[in-house]
Amino acid sequence: MALLKEPDLGTPARHGPSVDLEVDGHQVSVPAGTSVLRAAALAGIDIPKLCASDNLEAFGSCRLCLVEVEGGKGTPASCTTPVAPGMQVRTQSPKLEKLRRGVMELYISDHPLDCLTCPANGDCELQDMAGVVGLREVRYGFDGENHLDAPTDTSNPYFDFDDSKCIVCSRCVRACDEVQGTFALTISGRGFDSRVSASAGESFMNSECVSCGACVQACPTSTLQERSVIDLGMPTRTVLTTCAYCGVGCSFKAELRGDEVVRMVPYKDGGANEGHSCVKGRFAFGYASHPDRVTKPMIRERISDPWREVAWDEAINYVATRMTDIRDRHGVGAIGGITSSRCTNEEVYVVQKLVRAAFGNNNVDTCARVCHSPTGYGLKQTFGTSAGTQDFKSVAKADVMVVIGANPTDGHPVFASRMKRRLREGAQLIVIDPRRIDMVRSPHIEAAHHLQLAPGSNVAIINAMSHVVVTEGLVDRAFVAERCEDFEAWEQFIARPENSPESLEEVTGVPAAEVRAAARLYGSAGNAAIYYGLGVTEHSQGSTMVMGMANLAMATGNIGREGVGVNPLRGQNNVQGSCDMGSFPHELPGYRHVSDDTVREVFETLWGRTILAEPGLRIPNMFDAALDGTFLGLYIQGEDLAQSDPNTKHVTAALSAMELVVVQDLFLNETAKFAHVFLPGTSFLEKDGTFTNAERRINRVRPVMAPKTGKHEWQIACDIAQAMGYPMSYQQSSEIMDEVALTTPTFAGVSFDLLDKVGSVQGPCHEEAPTGTTVMHSKGFTRGKGRFIETAYVPTAERSTRKYPLILTTGRILSQYNVGSQTRRTANIAWHAEDILEIHPHDAEVRGICDGDEVTMASRVGETRLRAQVNDRMPVGVVYTTFHYPVTGANVVTTEHSDWATNCPEYKVTAVQVELGRKPSVTETVARHRGGADPDQPRSHESHDRPAALLGD
Ligand code: SF4
Ligand code: SF4
Ligand code: SF4
Ligand code: FES
Repeated sequence: MALLKEPDLGTPARHGPSVDLEVDGHQVSVPAGTSVLRAAALAGIDIPKLCASDNLEAFGSCRLCLVEVEGGKGTPASCTTPVAPGMQVRTQSPKLEKLRRGVMELYISDHPLDCLTCPANGDCELQDMAGVVGLREVRYGFDGENHLDAPTDTSNPYFDFDDSKCIVCSRCVRACDEVQGTFALTISGRGFDSRVSASAGESFMNSECVSCGACVQACPTSTLQERSVIDLGMPTRTVLTTCAYCGVGCSFKAELRGDEVVRMVPYKDGGANEGHSCVKGRFAFGYASHPDRVTKPMIRERISDPWREVAWDEAINYVATRMTDIRDRHGVGAIGGITSSRCTNEEVYVVQKLVRAAFGNNNVDTCARVCHSPTGYGLKQTFGTSAGTQDFKSVAKADVMVVIGANPTDGHPVFASRMKRRLREGAQLIVIDPRRIDMVRSPHIEAAHHLQLAPGSNVAIINAMSHVVVTEGLVDRAFVAERCEDFEAWEQFIARPENSPESLEEVTGVPAAEVRAAARLYGSAGNAAIYYGLGVTEHSQGSTMVMGMANLAMATGNIGREGVGVNPLRGQNNVQGSCDMGSFPHELPGYRHVSDDTVREVFETLWGRTILAEPGLRIPNMFDAALDGTFLGLYIQGEDLAQSDPNTKHVTAALSAMELVVVQDLFLNETAKFAHVFLPGTSFLEKDGTFTNAERRINRVRPVMAPKTGKHEWQIACDIAQAMGYPMSYQQSSEIMDEVALTTPTFAGVSFDLLDKVGSVQGPCHEEAPTGTTVMHSKGFTRGKGRFIETAYVPTAERSTRKYPLILTTGRILSQYNVGSQTRRTANIAWHAEDILEIHPHDAEVRGICDGDEVTMASRVGETRLRAQVNDRMPVGVVYTTFHYPVTGANVVTTEHSDWATNCPEYKVTAVQVELGRKPSVTETVARHRGGADPDQPRSHESHDRPAALLGD
């Protein structure tokens, strides 16, 4: 279990052969390359230190960790001195004590002596070390030149920088460089004038800082301090849990004072993040106690009626009665449910069970329909299971990494830091993206190739790369012969001239020579790994592209060991888990088809109900059926379909056509405007269960507080089932995971007890892999042989025309998350107060658009207004925006085109026209230059006539 203060061994672990030495007469055996400081700590001997920390390379600046080495000269710093065989180290002697006290005296003589009122009192390494070295007096007094009047930088909304307390140990600078990889901090000046400086003397807010919190974590004093600690005081207890934002799934210690969360501290032993975090998980947790949260159930007969707060019993009975009534009048297929990738595995499992056992059909789908359903299809067809192949750590062994349709520094920041570390060590990077994402060029990193392809031409580019691999002798014949099938047919297909980079140059817009060079780099690497995101899946050929990447990886033998693989970077925290739990209408838990009699029998026996052998409706089919009058009751667990799904007009028309829409969420979101029942959900701080991250890691989500609603979300689904006459109940959520383990072979070994014991496990976890599976397909593929599948390029039907000459592609930004309902209710709006449209200077100029202008963006299905940002990150002809704000309603313009295999919407390609709206007023221009939008100005298609209170979500 996590401690409030975790041990720090001083310098990072090393992995060389064993070296024996003696520290203060104790025999110690450590790997070669280990520092003396760490060796001593491992032997239980704490040498005083200030500038060293075990997640940073040693720096040797504070001179507190001095030791004596038998036969050696002087008093070396133990943090920068590596162990040697037979070394005899002394960590305590009168001479060392005197030296250390002298060092501390100098520090303290230039430090505000306000320990009793300092927010870090009790959690300050400087204070601790003064005690450890026995400092009793400061002989030089406190009157000399000092930094006690140095100003405090309060520009960041989450932490302060109180320069008067800085001891210039450089831990923050090194954390920003080594851990985060942003290089935002430096030590400016020399000697006495040395100070920490953000970028070139900027405030933290105006610097390159991305507010990951690594420097705050590293600071041994109160110089860099969380604002919440300053306001609320030091935490007194800690609960280990998991971030509820992205698919990286970082482990955090929720640190509390009483029942109030004071801060979230990334957990050193967290398998996914190893002590690192991003601004969302670290700081943006305030939404959980935001006044907008609805904590009581509400009902209304018609969506035009006002909401009426009711007791849980009334709400549950209302849902059960109306669902049963619709089913009786319109047939069993007229009702269904949607699960949420933001909910726990246990919460998702009970909803699909509610639909299958109590509703009596397979009309269950999940939000993964609109993000990673092509991953599920493509990887299952080729490898045999829908799962990323590696763990995150594996990237440290990659020689070449390919990032396709993903923007890790914004979407998966903690994993991006791992990638950047490996790139700084010398690995090579290929970026395939229409947009010049940050990874293409950032401090100490430059992609070897940026294939800036036209949106919609992914399959063409992956085929062209495979063509080069096949025709230039880069196929790993031994791997293919032993591990794969259907290679010959694929080889003939891909070697055809129409798949060459030259033939496809016109389609992709990427010079053939560049594609050839990138393919050669990938194909000849020792270890080459592919990482991809929604820029792959959210296309009409999303599933084809996933299979195309799998083909390329198999052809080059880049599967089944560390440093290689095909890895989806999942958007939401539990996309992998919600799919694992049987959320798709054609699959029971564990991706087993509903038509499989043996599998159905397992569940039918346990659940005591017959399960239909035919797949149910997907989300888009539910909408179509609603408009046809055959689908009339929908239970939505934690998703905002009206904002996140494409072609908003179509979605809202379908929701309006239903007799009963039940929304379960934290806030009254856009979808709730069409709901008849609102069931209040729980935040991650109240949940008790598990999330499964992008690397298949099952992490515990532990309750930090009781549900503010009085009910766990899994209890809501159980209560509805009971009220509909189907007995479903559990005493606690661990029993739900036990049922998953009982029915689903890939989860057979998983239990809360195991997770509490080992921390986390990566699925599959069963008898043969009792503590999980780090690398998939290491011996054979899940389906036996890896299968090559022909991936013919078929252009999307969505084309730019004279009327809609630009292509819109969408994505996300670091500080915001998904539809923004959580992050917009935190101080993260300081970085991104509105969605903006990025447009190339050429496209802007011909339309008379300047930076900051309001523009109208129209597609053939809708129109919206937003501000333009003119930059050359986009190629000519392509514009980009995010979808975090309902007032912008980016999905008003996205169309109903979708992936041929899974119906995943084609969010990434929409033909649009952009025209100048109105010029900003002087007030707006001033506000923008201060870093925010003018809050008084309506910006969207809808905002003019809606009261502000409704704009929240
Ligand atoms: S918060 Fe992160 S990015 Fe910002 S200065 Fe600190 S370490 Fe660097
Ligand atoms: S801000 Fe903290 S970590 Fe950075 S140099 Fe100063 S005392 Fe050290
Ligand atoms: S990287 Fe993702 S999981 Fe980790 S802290 Fe950030 S949002 Fe949370
Ligand atoms: S801890 Fe070794 S010099 Fe600072």
